Amino acid sequence: MKVGVPTEIKEDEYRVALTPIGARELAEHSHEVIIQAGAGEGSAISDSAYASQGVRIVPDAESVFEEADLILKVKEPQPEEVRLLQPHHTLFTYLHLAADLDLVRGLRESGATCVAYETVEDEHGRLPLLAPMSEIAGKIATQAGAFMLEKPLGGRGILLGGVPGVAAATVMIIGGGVVGMNAAFIAIGMEADVFVFDTSIDRLRQLDIALTGRCSTVNSSTLAIEEMLPRADLVIGAVLLHGARAPRVIRRSQLRLMKPAAVLVDVSIDQGGCFETSRPTTHSHPTFEVDGVIHYCVANMPGAVPVTSTYALTNATLPYVLALADHGVRGATVRDPGLRLGVNVAGGQVTNAAVAASHGLPLTPLEEVLGAGEEIHHDQLSRP
Ligand SMILES: NC(=O)c1ccc[n+]([C@@H]2O[C@H](COP(=O)([O-])OP(=O)(O)OC[C@H]3O[C@@H](n4cnc5c(N)ncnc54)[C@H](O)[C@@H]3O)[C@@H](O)[C@H]2O)c1
Repeated sequence: MKVGVPTEIKEDEYRVALTPIGARELAEHSHEVIIQAGAGEGSAISDSAYASQGVRIVPDAESVFEEADLILKVKEPQPEEVRLLQPHHTLFTYLHLAADLDLVRGLRESGATCVAYETVEDEHGRLPLLAPMSEIAGKIATQAGAFMLEKPLGGRGILLGGVPGVAAATVMIIGGGVVGMNAAFIAIGMEADVFVFDTSIDRLRQLDIALTGRCSTVNSSTLAIEEMLPRADLVIGAVLLHGARAPRVIRRSQLRLMKPAAVLVDVSIDQGGCFETSRPTTHSHPTFEVDGVIHYCVANMPGAVPVTSTYALTNATLPYVLALADHGVRGATVRDPGLRLGVNVAGGQVTNAAVAASHGLPLTPLEEVLGAGEEIHHDQLSRP
């Protein structure tokens, strides 16, 4: 198969969807890799590093889309990339379609098969291709929140860890999944007073063990959130319902409960945001203020640390990239039911239940779109 990698063009996005390590593995599996010149630059990977692994460098995105069948990206395709998609393409990238009806329309019209990293599941129902970016975003959430709390940046002017004789700041984390746990790790390390809220008691039990009781865990509810908001200096929103639009956990009317110039970090912004007052921001202009509260809502937080993020992402995606290149979408999704959950749009239809439900669109079974596949024997079933 011909595998193509364009340069990411979303604002402040420096990651690339394939490293020379991945290119070499694809070559070992007899696939041809085409990459846009300069695609790895933002992650400190030169064209020559790709070329030395047999990759062909092409001058522009048009050439990548024209030649390749499997297109690997990091962020959702921008309008000029959607226009390049054809029915024979398989697009493998983050899509976050539950919060973006225009993109759903564009991808349906393209006829391409669009596989979203963030809805692929492993055999335990976890999200293996979201997890590495969530680990990074969680760590950045606390770092960025601590920074935005500094007075010159508009914050309250409080140091997260305090000093002897002066109390530490209070950090409230809503959603104790991968993002929430990593945000808590850093906040605990910075010696803040940390509270993690989640609606899953099982998850709170796991966190209590993983964080060895060094933070408080709270069963999340409207009242529990309202009781903590007046104490919080930094609130990190990190809730997720797989594939669906983020639930709203703080309404505008509740902002008046908060301290002036407290900071809200909405990590769930890529799924539509979990605070009513959130709207996506960029690394260049990361914050805005509503009712005296600073909002940080950067939709591609890991993009700020591309050298870490590119390797973390491609470590996770490579086994799936190889499966798609070796077996095609039909073969790969029959072999791995978790990858099947990643197919959000195919043949002009929505094939992921949560995305269809988020927009009130009809759900089409993937098999109906891809047709009856080759027969796969039970002993061929595998997961990366
Ligand atoms: N902005 C970025 O750059 C960036 C980067 C990575 C991940 N994310 C986003 O961060 C969010 C969290 O990702 P994750 O990997 O931690 O997900 P996860 O599934 O590991 O964790 C989500 C947690 O939220 C909890 N939850 C669900 N509804 C809740 C509610 N109403 N109140 C309290 N808790 C609730 C769940 O029980 C779960 O523990 C996702 O929206 C993801 O897309 C954003």
